[in-house]
Amino acid sequence: MSSPLQILPYPHPVLLKRAAPVERVTPELAEFLLKMRDTMYAAHGVGLAAPQVGVSLRIIVVDTDERFVPLMNPRIIAADGSQTGVEGCLSLPNLHADVTRALRVTVQGQNARGKKVTLSGEGLWARAMQHEIDHLDGIIFTERADPATFRWVTGESAADGELIERPTTREDAYHFFARELARA
Ligand code: NI
Repeated sequence: MSSPLQILPYPHPVLLKRAAPVERVTPELAEFLLKMRDTMYAAHGVGLAAPQVGVSLRIIVVDTDERFVPLMNPRIIAADGSQTGVEGCLSLPNLHADVTRALRVTVQGQNARGKKVTLSGEGLWARAMQHEIDHLDGIIFTERADPATFRWVTGESAADGELIERPTTREDAYHFFARELARA
C-alpha cells in the first residue's frame, strides 16, 4: 500500500474552488488514483475528492460497498428520488449533519484507463457520489445540510458502539475549523 496523502482540512482554499478537468490520463495519474484509494481506506472514508489532498483536478474515488470506483471528470447525468441522512467529511473531522440528496443517480466519467463509463446506483453510493462531485465544484456538504442538525461526534458508546454526539451550529463549526487551520 502506498503511503497515504495528507487530507487537507476545511476551510483550506483548495477545497473552496472549482477543480479543473483531467485532460489526459497519464501513468502518474493512475498512480495518484491508487494513492487516493489508499488514503481513503486509511481514513475509513467512503469517498475522497482530489482537492481534499491538494490536487485541484476533477477526480474522485468512492467505495461504499466493497466496490472501488475511481472516476475522472465525473458528472451526474440523471438523478431521481430523495433521501435524507447523515453526512460527514474527512476534511471536517467529527462533524455530522443531515443532508437531503437524490436517492438514485447515474454518473458518467472516465475510469483509471481513461475509458468512458456510465454507472448507476442508489442509497449511500448515490449520496457519496453527490458529495464527492460537489467537492469538485468547491461545495462542502455543510452548505447543503439542514442547519438544525449539526452535531459533533464526541465518542462512541462502549455498550453498543452508538455514536455520542453533541449539538452545534454551522457557524460554531466553521469558526472551530477556521481557528484550527490558522493554528496549523
Ligand atoms: Ni467530503
